[in-house]
Amino acid sequence: MDALLRVTGLRKAYGPVEVLKGIDLSVRPGEKIALIGPSGSGKSTCLRCLNFLEKPSAGQIFLDEEEIGVRNGRPMSDRELAPQRSEMGMVFQLFNLWPHLTVTENVAIAARKVRGLPAKEARELALEMLAKVHMTHRADASPAELSGGQQQRVAIARALSQKPKLMLFDEPTSALDPELVHEVLKVIEELAAEGRTMLIVTHEIAFARDVADRVLFLDGGVIVEEGPARNVISHPREPRTQSFLKQIRH
Ligand SMILES: Nc1ncnc2c1ncn2[C@@H]1O[C@H](COP(=O)(O)OP(=O)(O)O)[C@@H](O)[C@H]1O
Ligand SMILES: [Mg+2]
Repeated sequence: MDALLRVTGLRKAYGPVEVLKGIDLSVRPGEKIALIGPSGSGKSTCLRCLNFLEKPSAGQIFLDEEEIGVRNGRPMSDRELAPQRSEMGMVFQLFNLWPHLTVTENVAIAARKVRGLPAKEARELALEMLAKVHMTHRADASPAELSGGQQQRVAIARALSQKPKLMLFDEPTSALDPELVHEVLKVIEELAAEGRTMLIVTHEIAFARDVADRVLFLDGGVIVEEGPARNVISHPREPRTQSFLKQIRH
């Protein structure tokens, strides 16, 4: 089947420092990819380049065969980029909900702004997405009344309300207290089971092994190893992957 996301020769430099040194990646519809690697290896930069939150220094990104960030050979403006960005739902380590809005409003505002839905439909969609992340019972709460795990689930609902073709998660559980990690991973696992296409940066190795189809190990801005999740996690070939996995397990 054709790739939903296709990345070729992606490079990103900050001044003289090259952070991504040529990433090639193809993601099929419905595929779940875990991106693992040491701190500073370029995982976040890679995700942020996919939707042009960071402008790549070189390379091309195609979503459904449409090139991201470029039209007729020219770079797109932020305004032109907005609809392309909305096709990738992004979930960050820090959830950044609006403190003055309720849970439902936080989700509905994305549907209104990004998809241009009228208020009533946006609210209905928000409630539907909140049900998916098991947050219906807190629909009228304000973010400050929620645990970190609940806030992150609302942030996931917010990303889902864009009806993205692809979900991008950047260490969605890293900022959470350990006892709250599970509820967020469970929601992501349920979304995976629905057949959504997703790219997940995570240090939750057991989760990557069990939920991802494929694992990519990024180190120093290059993909050092990739393969079926169980192979890479349980039987890494490359010494760098082996030592990273050893460190993270202890
Ligand atoms: N805006 C920036 N300006 C300069 N250097 C940056 C910037 N963002 C990230 N970097 C550098 O790029 C490298 C990779 O960062 P990052 O993608 O955040 O790694 P990871 O997510 O794997 O921890 C790091 O050395 C970081 O310091
Ligand atoms: Mg990061």
